[in-house]
Amino acid sequence: MTSRLDGPAKVTGQARYGVDHNLPGMVHGYVLLSTIAHGEIAAMDVAEAERAPGVLGVFTPFNPLELRTPSSPLFGETWVPLQDKEVAYYGQPIGFVVAETYEQARDAAMLVEVSYHQRPALTSLEDGLDSAEDAPADRGGSPPSLTVLADGVESIEDALASSPVVFEATYSTATQNHAAMEPHSAVAVWDSGGLTVYSGNQGAHLQAAELAGAFDVDPSSVHAVNPYVGGAFGGKARTSAPAFLAAAAAKALDRPVKAALSREQVFTATATRPATVQKIALGARTDGTLVALRHDSWCSTPMDRSFVEPTSHGTSREWYATENLAISQKMVPLNIPPTTFMRAPGEAPGSFALESAIDELAVELGMDPIELRMRNNSTAPPGKDLQWSSKHLDECFRLGAERFGWASRSPRGRTDGDWLVGLGTATAMFPALRFPATVEVTLRADDTAVVATSGSDPGTGLLTVLSLVGGESLDIAPERVAPRLGDSALPPGGLSGGSTATASVGSAIMIAATEVIDELVALASSPGAPFEGMEVTYEDGRVLAGDRSMTFGELLRAVDRSSLAATGSSAPGEELTKHSFSSFGAQFCEVRVHRWTREARVSRMLGVFDAGRIINEKAARSQLMGGMIWGVSAALHEGLEIEENGRLANGDFAGYLVPVNADISDVDVHFVQYPDTLHNSVGAKGVGEIGTVGMAAAVANAIHNATGVRVRHIPIVLEDLL
Ligand code: MOS
Repeated sequence: MTSRLDGPAKVTGQARYGVDHNLPGMVHGYVLLSTIAHGEIAAMDVAEAERAPGVLGVFTPFNPLELRTPSSPLFGETWVPLQDKEVAYYGQPIGFVVAETYEQARDAAMLVEVSYHQRPALTSLEDGLDSAEDAPADRGGSPPSLTVLADGVESIEDALASSPVVFEATYSTATQNHAAMEPHSAVAVWDSGGLTVYSGNQGAHLQAAELAGAFDVDPSSVHAVNPYVGGAFGGKARTSAPAFLAAAAAKALDRPVKAALSREQVFTATATRPATVQKIALGARTDGTLVALRHDSWCSTPMDRSFVEPTSHGTSREWYATENLAISQKMVPLNIPPTTFMRAPGEAPGSFALESAIDELAVELGMDPIELRMRNNSTAPPGKDLQWSSKHLDECFRLGAERFGWASRSPRGRTDGDWLVGLGTATAMFPALRFPATVEVTLRADDTAVVATSGSDPGTGLLTVLSLVGGESLDIAPERVAPRLGDSALPPGGLSGGSTATASVGSAIMIAATEVIDELVALASSPGAPFEGMEVTYEDGRVLAGDRSMTFGELLRAVDRSSLAATGSSAPGEELTKHSFSSFGAQFCEVRVHRWTREARVSRMLGVFDAGRIINEKAARSQLMGGMIWGVSAALHEGLEIEENGRLANGDFAGYLVPVNADISDVDVHFVQYPDTLHNSVGAKGVGEIGTVGMAAAVANAIHNATGVRVRHIPIVLEDLL
């Protein structure tokens, strides 16, 4: 168990985030947002703002900063502000005021008079369902619709109609904001070497590539630095509006520019998780065997249709064994802030619907919900031939049931004084993925090593993983390995997203370490070296030959070298043709609903996870705990209310509820550890996102167990339980 290496700096205020950088001559920008949801900006009167104290520039679509639409290497095109007069949502960046101080910029921004040609706006998912469009293929390339039918079955409707037991229901989930602790912000400066941007991001080289695209310059002349990131969760995978604007204004004004969104601005000027509506139909035999599963989903998407929450795709890819499966995924373009990846995109809201429905079917069949799940345990994703590389979900449920006291659960809950107490459970799954990553491993003459890659640690523990896997791969103590991250000048290091970083970067570390050890051994036996012409081996940080050995530092000093470095790259490959890969888990929770006030409180939670090898149990537990707490948050707290005019009614921390300590009592996380070396050489399957999957359903299922009330939307609020 290793404490996170960046922990002390982060909790004592020593850590310097992007916005903490202050440069000589630096000025401040304030982002101006639209106050209509749809239309065209007719005019912007900036005269008074330009005359305000300290103001250096007022940039608008009428006096734009020059930015091109860049393409992220992983995510496609990223929108850049001020390039046209169209307004597609309330709270869209439409101006940037730069002044000597932050206060001057903010005050001047208030003086800009904006007039619009307003057009009718569509802002409600329910109202927009009629104008739904087929979604494009999801991130794994799955088509928007997929139907798999047993021989002789004509349609999913037929399969459902001939099922002895049929259960159908519609579920919905709310729009959410990532609400990371560090608001989106940047400090940008141009010099003879090009552009440097200090800004929290999920991969420094990805940010550098986007900025290079936006300014049409060579990526090598952009330096993106993000040594510390205060939370991301998918919301910092792309470069943010303040980063583009700060960089463009710094160029236009020839001064370093700092720009930070206020907390309220984060809610509209970044991106959100889409709202969803999901219809599920389950057909089963009386013994619980699923024979048909239909999952139709609709999600909100911004007018540029740039992101779809792939709720149905999760069902097709991962969930239950069934002979007949039909999924569809539709999107509803609305005048709402951008939508994007948020922790467990697809699976988080998708599992609320599917895992609630499975619980409802269990109630209808009079079966234990764990037994129903295990009866339909899949050995491969439905409709695919490739078996799971490893799946220990049954063990997760068995162990979890034992540790949580599931056997004491009554189908009608129990009472404890004025509290109605219920237990709920759900399955969690998240695909095990990897991205290409390159790592440099350097051995130094002082017997330490450096493991460096450009990726980012947004609070996941990746920095510490670099030391741990580096130490293991070099056969030295991790304390001797200095990790380096968060700088685009380092080798391209994957993405801290998609639960991929440990598997991606870890595999590359192992390759780079093997490479540098090979080079060290060759160096040791080279002409003039201490082991010239001898058969040299490496172990425990030492080169050995005959009956002599030296540490690698001693050898480097002996040959007058200060260091020896090698890079290693790893990318998903042949394994994808052999197996399917996923992390699995069993979620448990106990909910107490007050008999009279109807408040719901989660009193206990347990998650048991099969996520392959766990590199650092302490950090992995924290990741999963955070995910589970987010699941409770989704179930009982979080939801953005979009007014008819597109304004967010609760786009701030006064109105957008997130759990506090008093909302979360007992959280337990347990691992069944089966290293999955069929997926990657490190054996890790990923823990970043699965923690939140299933938990909202487990809460809703526990509420039903406690009260007999079934709520098919989240967040579940007091009024739902009256
Ligand atoms: Mo994420 S939604 O793992 O960037």
